[in-house]
Amino acid sequence: MAKVLVIGSGGREHALAWKLAQSDSVDKVFVAPGNGGTAAIAENVPVQFTDVDGLLKFAQDNQIDLTVIGQEAASDAGVVDAFQAAGLAIFGPTKAATQVESSKAFSKLLMQEQNIPTAQFQNFDDPAKALAYIEGRRLPIVIKASGLAEGKGVVIAQTLKEAQEAIDNMMVQKAFGESGTTVVIEDFLSGQEVSMQALCDGTTSVLFPASQDHKQIFDGDKGPNTGGMGVFAPVLWVTPDHLKTIEEKVVQPALAGLRQKGAAFTGCLYPGLMIDGTDVNVVEFNARFGDPEAETYMRLFEGDLYKTLLDCSQGKLDAASVGWKPGTAITVALASAGYPGKYEKGKTITGLEEAAAQPDIVLFHAGTAQDGQGCKTAGGRVLYVTAYGESIEDARSKAYAAIKLINFEGMQYRTDIGLRSAPV
Ligand code: AMP
Ligand code: GLY
Repeated sequence: MAKVLVIGSGGREHALAWKLAQSDSVDKVFVAPGNGGTAAIAENVPVQFTDVDGLLKFAQDNQIDLTVIGQEAASDAGVVDAFQAAGLAIFGPTKAATQVESSKAFSKLLMQEQNIPTAQFQNFDDPAKALAYIEGRRLPIVIKASGLAEGKGVVIAQTLKEAQEAIDNMMVQKAFGESGTTVVIEDFLSGQEVSMQALCDGTTSVLFPASQDHKQIFDGDKGPNTGGMGVFAPVLWVTPDHLKTIEEKVVQPALAGLRQKGAAFTGCLYPGLMIDGTDVNVVEFNARFGDPEAETYMRLFEGDLYKTLLDCSQGKLDAASVGWKPGTAITVALASAGYPGKYEKGKTITGLEEAAAQPDIVLFHAGTAQDGQGCKTAGGRVLYVTAYGESIEDARSKAYAAIKLINFEGMQYRTDIGLRSAPV
């Protein structure tokens, strides 16, 4: 029987650990560092996800058979490189392959080299040249800090003044530190945003069904962007032709390009896409499962996740090992008051058991902690309520009925997850 280590502390890692624990081959799941929810289904290990030596030592000492990376900071810190060098099985990209996410400039050049459809762009490390470039471009225009900026390094400038301010803020004021030394300036794409995830073993890829995230904090896509306030899958208007385009024009060329650079990609490749009619464009690549996309997908995944991810890590991914339940899954994030800005922690959460006992509901924790007197809030996004249903309407009504049973001071959530209609 196998022992598995999941690296990360969010709802995504709770969902991965939950599914891995269901495998007939798995008898023990560890999560480093985990959260209040993973403590109930696995053993939390107090090692941070960027502590490469600590994680390697834990895996060796405990004879871990497979390590699964959730949090991208771990792959960016070189955890996969260290595990591979030590001969340990690990699902996730090397530091070099993680650049598809950690450097937007690298990612855009890869897309250009491989003819992957994406917005026209240029990369700049000189603010004067960046300012000169935007003069002649159509508005709105998109300014992005190239490095990791916790989702905050993207400005969609509606006016030239806003674009100039964004360039100054990122490149001169260094609002995102070194992450803004290089900026990508690209044309605005219209359409509907879709999240795709593909399991990749370096060469072979298997696409998950399409999903849609709801990034803004408030209903109707209002307010600042967050890590994601809710997801549903599948997206029924995404056609087999779209999926074929995504496989052949996006995922496969990206894998080929990374192999050519000596940075073969193993793990979950997550292209964020803008779809407008038959046009598919890449907004960004992520080198990990989405959060809360993973929570949603884990409610639909049919198969032995341990075996699939192990095969993937060994370069022998078998597409036939991945199956999907019919129907729809939906995830709604419950967040602390103030998120995505400043928020308070330590609020008592009530109703968890009652909510989890409702039909087709599973709760995945993110910012929670157990303190002996129950479950308390400990982060911005606190909990994810996931529901499975025969249809999106069925899944939606189950999710929102369960949410009514949960409470903590200042709890906020979107009430319109899954209401987004198909484009006309
Ligand atoms: P990114 O971190 O690159 O995914 O950007 C964050 C968000 O900004 C995306 O999820 C989109 O909603 C939006 N965005 C980024 N690039 C573009 C673009 N070229 N056109 C329109 N929206 C964009
Ligand atoms: N939910 C969006 C992300 O994980 O980036």
